[in-house]
Amino acid sequence: MLQPSETAKSPSQGQKIDTLTVTDNRTGKLYEIPIENDTIKATDLRQIKVQPEDFGMMTYDPAFMNTAACKSKITFIDGDKGILRYRGYPIEQLAEKCTYLEVAYLLIHGELPTKAELEEWTKNITTHTFVHESMKKFMDGFHYDAHPMGMFVSSVAALSTFYPSAKKIDDPSERMLTVYRLIGKVPTLAAFAARHSAGMPYIHPDNDLNYAANFLNMMFRIAEPKYTPNPVLAHALDVLFILHADHEQNCSASAMRNVGSSRVDPYSAMAAAAAALYGPLHGGANEEVLRMLDEIGSKDKIPGFIKDVKDGKRRLMGFGHRVYKNFDPRASIIKKLADQVFEVTGRNPKLDIALELERIALADDYFIKRKLYPNVDFYSGLIYQALRFPVDMFPVLFAIGRTSGWLAQWQELLQDPEQKIARPRQIYTGPKRRDYVPFEKR
Ligand code: ACO
Repeated sequence: MLQPSETAKSPSQGQKIDTLTVTDNRTGKLYEIPIENDTIKATDLRQIKVQPEDFGMMTYDPAFMNTAACKSKITFIDGDKGILRYRGYPIEQLAEKCTYLEVAYLLIHGELPTKAELEEWTKNITTHTFVHESMKKFMDGFHYDAHPMGMFVSSVAALSTFYPSAKKIDDPSERMLTVYRLIGKVPTLAAFAARHSAGMPYIHPDNDLNYAANFLNMMFRIAEPKYTPNPVLAHALDVLFILHADHEQNCSASAMRNVGSSRVDPYSAMAAAAAALYGPLHGGANEEVLRMLDEIGSKDKIPGFIKDVKDGKRRLMGFGHRVYKNFDPRASIIKKLADQVFEVTGRNPKLDIALELERIALADDYFIKRKLYPNVDFYSGLIYQALRFPVDMFPVLFAIGRTSGWLAQWQELLQDPEQKIARPRQIYTGPKRRDYVPFEKR
C-alpha cells in the first residue's frame, strides 16, 4: 500500500505508470494506488481517512457489479463479444468435439486429458455412480409433490454425512475422491428425485452406458432388461451438460466459494451452490421459460405479453444476462442442437412461440436499449421437454452439468493463498445506540 503524498506523479510523454491517483477532497490529500490487471485492491483504499481513528474508505458494490472476488484460471467470458472459454478452449469447439466427462476433466485438471487419462477418469467416476441404499429412504421421506430441486439440494447435503473424511479438504487425494463421488453421484440423485416424484421405482446406474446415457436409463427405464437411449438424444444431453459446466463467478459458483471458504466439507458447500442455482433468476429460469411459454399459449398472445414485460409487470424469462450484452454463445449452440433433437422427437410446438417471442423482442427498443438477448435458458427447456423431462427437473439438469464447474471453483479457492473466509463489509444504516424500553413504555 502506498502512502499519501502531496503531489501525484504525472507521467512524462510515453511513460506509463500503473497507479491510480486519488484526491480526497475532504482532506486535500493525494493517494497513489497500484493498478494490476486494470484493478485496484479495495483494501488499498482503507488508508484514505479523515481522522486517524476512522475505519477508512470502503467500496460499496451491492450485487458485486464491479468487484472481482478472486483470480481464476478456469473460465473466461467476454460478455460484449459473446465469448465463453473453459481453460482457454472456445465453448463451440468443446461442445462439438468433446464429451462431458472430457470437459469435466479439463475444468478440474486444467488440461484436456490424454486417452489413457480420460479412460482412468471415466472409470473413477463410473465406479462412484451408486449411492448408499439409505439415500432411497431419504428420498422416500419427501412428499409426493416435492420439487426435485429441493430433493436434490437436500440429498447432496446428506452425502456429507456418509463421507466424513471429505472434511480433510487439504488432502488432495480426499478432494479428488469427492470430485469422483460428486460427479458420479449427481445423476443418480437427480434421477432418484424424479422417480420419486413420478412414484416409480428407483433404477440403479448401468455402468456400461456413458454418462448421459446412464442418466437417461435411470430416468426412463421401465421394464426393459437393458435400456438403450437414442444416441442422438444422449449426445444432445451430453452437450447440454458441457454448455452448463461452468460460467465463472455466477451466483451459484460464488455460493460454492463463499460457503467453501468457511472450510466446510464440499458436499455442504455444493448443496449451497445448488440452492443458489434453484432461484428463478439463475438456473431456475429454464423452468420458468417453459411455464411462461405455456402461459402465453399461442402466438397472438405475444404482443400483450411483451407489453406486460415493458410495463414492468413481469420479466421475459430466458432473456438478459449480467455478463452477456450481445449474445449468449451457449444459446446459439442450443438453438442448433434443438434441430437435431426435434428431428428425432418431432418438433416441440412451443418452439414456434419461442421463435416469435425472440423475433419480436429482438426488434423492440425496450430490449435493444437494455441489451437483452436470449440466454442459455431460453431454448434449453424446449430440448429438455422434447427429451421427456418433467419441467421441474430442468434446474436439476443444469445442476448435474454445473457440478464439475463448482468443484473446479472450489479446488481453485482452496489452493489460492490469497483467499480467506469470505466476509463482506456493510454500511450500517440502522439506529444509533439506544437503551432498552420496557413493554409498558413502548
Ligand atoms: N425481461 C424484462 N426486462 C429485463 C429482463 C428481462 N428478462 N432482464 C433485465 N431486464 C431489464 C431490467 O428491468 C432493467 O431495466 P431498467 O434499467 O429499466 O430498470 C434492465 O433490463 C437491467 O436489468 P437488471 O435486472 O439490472 O440486470 P441484471 O444484470 O441485474 O440481471 C438477469 C440479469 C437476472 C439475468 C436478468 O436479465 C433477468 O432477470 N433475466 C430473466 C431471468 C433469467 O433468464 N435468468 C437466467 C440467467 S442465465 C443463468 O443464470 C444461467
